[in-house]
Amino acid sequence: MNVQECLNGLKRQERVYILDSPVFSDPAWRVYQEREKAFWTYETERPSYNPDPVGHVRPSLKHWRIGTDFFKGKTVLEIGSGPFGFFSGVAQINEKHLPDTLVVSDSLMDFYQELNVFKLIPDKAIPLKSPGEDLPFPNSSFDIILTNNTIDHVKDCTSFLNEIKRLLKDDGYLLFCTHIIVDFIKIFKPVLKKIDSNHPYHFTQAETDDLFKGCGFELLSKACIPLYKEESIPIEANIIKKCIFLVGFRLMRSLYGIARKRGNNLWN
Ligand SMILES: C[S@@+](CC[C@H](N)C(=O)[O-])C[C@H]1O[C@@H](n2cnc3c(N)ncnc32)[C@H](O)[C@@H]1O
Repeated sequence: MNVQECLNGLKRQERVYILDSPVFSDPAWRVYQEREKAFWTYETERPSYNPDPVGHVRPSLKHWRIGTDFFKGKTVLEIGSGPFGFFSGVAQINEKHLPDTLVVSDSLMDFYQELNVFKLIPDKAIPLKSPGEDLPFPNSSFDIILTNNTIDHVKDCTSFLNEIKRLLKDDGYLLFCTHIIVDFIKIFKPVLKKIDSNHPYHFTQAETDDLFKGCGFELLSKACIPLYKEESIPIEANIIKKCIFLVGFRLMRSLYGIARKRGNNLWN
């Protein structure tokens, strides 16, 4: 069965295909999902909210050292796209570089469909509500799987990466970006969990390396960029929140990487 045939068996709400997965019934993770909804509701209702899909994809392209043409002609899955996703930026740079088949998935896709920014998702993309731990496609369906700022948000990061490994073709690539914390604040994780309650996981770089390795991936490239170089402190934040952002951005990094399934010798 190809990707579209698998989707045809699912329920549909307007543009979005819906997978009813047992992963959605986990009450602890649902708390994080409610916080994610509250974040996007607040974010998109701010008078100064001005989404910039191109600005959103440029750092990833730079640190993965690829151009938008990397996706052309491929079968691609984005997991944890948020309300408009990576490929809205690709479409604005060069629509001809969009993949041949593009599935854009998120566990909150039905909620995002109600937001105005959802219309930025290119017409060619197929939006899917599904957890990354449980996707409705056969083994080896995708040339590229892309997941930005999601691995530390999921219910179970090991199942998440195992599912990606199952769905990637043997010569396929996983492109990812995730926030990590600097090593020395690892001992303060219990405090961090309270201050930064939106993230189920707070990985260090070494923990991320172990996670990928343990799930059968080989990291082909990685770039670790201090967060203060990429993110700006929200102008609306009060002085206390601004201080928290200031310190937080110094203690966090964005880790950009490309991985493939271990045992394949196809990278050149
Ligand atoms: C921080 S947002 C990142 C959104 C977008 N990729 C970006 O870079 O702006 C994390 C996204 O991951 C989604 N997410 C969380 N857990 C997930 C899971 N288990 N499976 C799929 N998506 C998930 C959330 O709903 C949210 O949209």
